[in-house]
Amino acid sequence: MLVAVRDAVGAEFPVAVKINATDRLVGGVDEAQSLALIDALEGIAVDLVDISGGTYFPGAATDAGTRTSGPPYVGFARQARRRTSIPLMLTGGVKTFEQATAIVNSGTADVVGLARSLVLDPELPTRWRRGDTTAPAFPRFDETPEGGVTAWYTERIAHLAGLRDDPVIDAVRARDDFARRERGRAERWRLTRASREPM
Ligand SMILES: Cc1cc2nc3c(=O)[nH]c(=O)nc-3n(C[C@H](O)[C@H](O)[C@H](O)COP(=O)(O)O)c2cc1C
Repeated sequence: MLVAVRDAVGAEFPVAVKINATDRLVGGVDEAQSLALIDALEGIAVDLVDISGGTYFPGAATDAGTRTSGPPYVGFARQARRRTSIPLMLTGGVKTFEQATAIVNSGTADVVGLARSLVLDPELPTRWRRGDTTAPAFPRFDETPEGGVTAWYTERIAHLAGLRDDPVIDAVRARDDFARRERGRAERWRLTRASREPM
């Protein structure tokens, strides 16, 4: 498939591949399989491999035993670095300027990816470049229903995109608002499909 992507976009267009170091899921992709994937990417014209991990499926049986403090995929990225010359990006758990610079300065990865930190503070890279190296304020939730934290970030993105008025909501409300939004999207998709079906 990657070869087909490259063929479609041509030699000059950047192609990046995001992979999971591990799904942290019983029966999911593990580190050995992901390293084999890195090996398989060598020789294909890929410009960047973004290493992250985990899943955001509510109810997914995560392997909590692999959790570490700080960015969790640093060890995997170091192994990947030894195996490939493709530029690497490392995403996951980067919350501070010190963590981000340590990853790049140590040569663990060429680029750092930010997801939740950027949702919390879209100006973060600009701020860090200007010398204000404070970390974004990560929320603490009183109650975290299944899927609630992911829903909270999703609703926060919706707010950034102008799709909801109020910025911060608790995780229970986020889960309910997210579920309502998804039902609406599913319904619109269903109606669009129905209108396109031959009479
Ligand atoms: C609300 C939300 C939605 C996400 N959706 C996707 C997605 O569609 N595809 C994907 O590859 N990763 C997705 N991710 C995972 C992030 O890209 C990233 O790998 C992960 O959050 C770890 O980075 P972080 O610790 O900086 O948040 C999502 C993360 C969040 C919080």
